This record gives sequence, structure tokens and C-alpha cells, in this order.
Amino acid sequence: MNEQQVGRFFDSLSQDYTAVIERCFPRYREMLWALLDYLPSDKPFNSIVELGSGTGNLSVLIARAFPRATIRFVDLSGDSLNVCRSRLGHHDRFTFEERDFRELSYEANSVDLVVSSIAVHHLTSTEKQQLFSRINGWLSPNGVFSFADQFRGATDAIYARHMHHWRELSSAAGSSGEEWNMWMMHQREHDHHDPLVDQLGWLAEAGFSQVDCVWRYLLWAVVQGSKQ
Ligand SMILES: C[S@@+](CC[C@H](N)C(=O)[O-])C[C@H]1O[C@@H](n2cnc3c(N)ncnc32)[C@H](O)[C@@H]1O
Repeated sequence: MNEQQVGRFFDSLSQDYTAVIERCFPRYREMLWALLDYLPSDKPFNSIVELGSGTGNLSVLIARAFPRATIRFVDLSGDSLNVCRSRLGHHDRFTFEERDFRELSYEANSVDLVVSSIAVHHLTSTEKQQLFSRINGWLSPNGVFSFADQFRGATDAIYARHMHHWRELSSAAGSSGEEWNMWMMHQREHDHHDPLVDQLGWLAEAGFSQVDCVWRYLLWAVVQGSKQ
């Protein structure tokens, strides 16, 4: 991943991001809802990290759902973080970190919940495995990692069907050919869609238990695991 190019790409989208993503993926809101809805309700999440928070569509939901938690929002794109900050307002419990989340290091056992939406796929397979292991280290006992993202199918044929249906879906939702080409160019240059089943395995190898895919539609899925 060229992090400067990724940051610039999302900087350039920051003012229109929500409209563009909702045209591109009409079930985007449902996916964010699922990420929140399936979080275990019996665990206190006092310290939260969001990776790749962008302009804050998941951030506002998390901030509302956990009104007393301290939350760190991390993103490469300064312009997107500015939009996120203006939506959330200034509160001592929020920190905005313009950083590459591959380089984060938090204290061991210091975070109760790590969330992310459509950001982890920017990492290569090896980088994902390293990230999962680092997240496991940051999490407190019984802490949870939950992320929504794009995943490959188990076979090339399944993945090709996903891409075909996605193209039709976004077109029906009003996404133009130009917009589709923009996403596909970004995807070719910066995205790494690893199979869902591989990533479930990597989470288990990183020390997570109760690993599950709690929601899925085409290549999008929400996955979560708890620290043992
Ligand atoms: C597709 S957007 C998703 C934004 C938001 N989470 C959402 O659900 O709509 C991906 C975001 O991840 C950020 N990102 C990608 N790779 C990153 C990295 N290595 N470190 C920090 N942020 C990253 C991008 O800058 C961008 O804002």
C-alpha cells in the first residue's frame, strides 16, 4: 500500500464520501448497523479504538452507543478526520490520530473494543495477520475486535459473481460508470481482498476466540472475535 496515495484519495473524497459510498453500496448503513448490533451487550467498553474512521459514519454510531467511553479515531486522511471531528464535536473523551494504523502501538491490555469499517482491506495478507495479532495484544481480557470489510470468496468464481452483482447493485442505486471506474482503479492499486475463511483463521491464530461472521452480503461482511 502506498499510504500517501491512499490518504490523498480519501482526502479528495472527504466532502462527498457518504453520498458516494451509499450509491456504491446501498446496504452500507445496514452493515454498520450489524457491526453495532452484534457487539456483545454484556461487556463494558470503556476504551475504544476505531481504525480508518474516515469521515465518521461508524464513529458517530459508536460515540452514541458508548456515551462514556474514551474513543481514538485513527485515519491516514487528514481531511476525512476533519469531517469526522466536526461531526462529533469537541469532547475530552475523543482523540483524532492522523496516522497509519499499521504503525500504531498501544499499551498491552489497554483497549476494550477495536472497530473498523471498510479499511482493513487496504493491508496485504501479511499485514492483516500482523495487525490482528497487535490488536489482540492491545485488547483487555474479553476485549472485542469487530470489523466490516470487503472479502474475496473462497473461489475465483464466487468472487467474480460478487463483483458482477455489486456492479449491477451500484448502477441501480445511481452510481455512474465514471464512479465505478474510480473505485475499480483504487481497488486495483490499493485494495487486497483476502478470503473471508482465511481471515477468520488468522483471527483465531492471533488469539481470538468466538470468531464469527455475523453479517454478509456479496463481498461485504462483518466479522468479530473476542480476546481469550
Ligand atoms: C473506504 S474508507 C472507510 C471510511 C469509514 N470507516 C466508512 O465506513 O465509511 C477507508 C478509510 O480507511 C483509511 N485507511 C486506509 N488504510 C489506512 C491505514 N493504513 N491507516 C489509517 N487509515 C487508513 C482511509 O484513509 C479511509 O479514510
